[in-house]
Amino acid sequence: MVDQTEGRSATPAPDDAPVPVPALRWEEPPEGPVVVLLDQTRLPAEEVELVCTDVPALVDAVRSLAVRGAPLLGLAGAYGVALAAARGYDVTEAAEHLAHARPTAVNLEYGVRRAERAYRAVAEGGGDLEQAAAAALAEARALHREDAEASERMAAHGLELLGELLPGGGYRILTHCNTGALVSGGGGTAFGVVRSAHRAGELRRLWVDETRPLLQGARLTAYEAAREGMAYTVLTDSAAGSLFAAGEVDAVLVGADRIAADGSVANKIGTYPLAVLARYHHVPFLVVAPVTTVDAGTADGASIEVEQRPGHEVTEFAPPTVPGAGAEPGGGLPVAPLGAQAYNPAFDVTPAELITAIVTERGVVSPVTGDALAELCARPAPG
Ligand code: MRU
Repeated sequence: MVDQTEGRSATPAPDDAPVPVPALRWEEPPEGPVVVLLDQTRLPAEEVELVCTDVPALVDAVRSLAVRGAPLLGLAGAYGVALAAARGYDVTEAAEHLAHARPTAVNLEYGVRRAERAYRAVAEGGGDLEQAAAAALAEARALHREDAEASERMAAHGLELLGELLPGGGYRILTHCNTGALVSGGGGTAFGVVRSAHRAGELRRLWVDETRPLLQGARLTAYEAAREGMAYTVLTDSAAGSLFAAGEVDAVLVGADRIAADGSVANKIGTYPLAVLARYHHVPFLVVAPVTTVDAGTADGASIEVEQRPGHEVTEFAPPTVPGAGAEPGGGLPVAPLGAQAYNPAFDVTPAELITAIVTERGVVSPVTGDALAELCARPAPG
């Protein structure tokens, strides 16, 4: 359950803090371990934390997008298994529920299975349940550290690549959805590169797609950009074409929820049209993601399961200032006739041929081919 009595306002980091409020953390108060989430459905209006004391609460938080973004979903999955183990719940059942809470981001199941394997190795190797639970938690913490390190390396590789592609500096970067510290144990993926460019004095402007229908760009990326003191501008997704036409975009940087073996990339709905625009206008289109987002078991883009979200997210407007307003049909302000049908896929798939490069913590793949991706993933992990 979400412990409402212990739900609390997050302590905001100082305005000059290098990173925002942590999106997820593990705590061990006397009443028992909990997973604490910064509720992303309430940002930027309020910084409120959800205190999850059990797996169903965490699954609800994943489905409602209180916790979201591929790498962070991996951490939520791993800590969720650790929570189930520490509180004595059925770990197999918990792992199944968590792994399938959302279908597209491969990191979610990856995180779940890593913690579950660590738990089983001890439980089936003669350890007691307390030791097995400790192993699951240690694995979640290891994944957390790895994710933070991966963020740093992706930011360095991405900045170097931008320097090669755009030697003049002073980048005007367009991004979509939210890919910063809110989706990661560290600084994030695409936004991590943007942050590095900003700190190097090379970011002229960040164009922030609002990202319909749940506004991860307008609400979350703008929140992170403002904290960093970046020059940023929010635009409707449909305004991007006119920006390209006006020559105002030097590069597009996005994250990924799943990268198939052939290099196709599933990411937030609206990414694919940006890739088409970028190709037409000869603008580099870069995908930034850790290797945990590459799924060798998914052969191609057509095989990626794309999450379909409820229609009321499109037909109703649910401002984040109204807690829970978008959770159920009828909870938001109608923007379409009652009973209107809605098409609401959460993601789309961009084929490899439209992607200039995929930037990972192990290096850069460009041009993007299945073979080059496989070779990169086979490299030893850095560090
Ligand atoms: O539905 P969301 O908000 O979880 O979608 C998130 C995205 O599409 C991100 O771009 C993706 O997870 C990459 S974040 C590193």
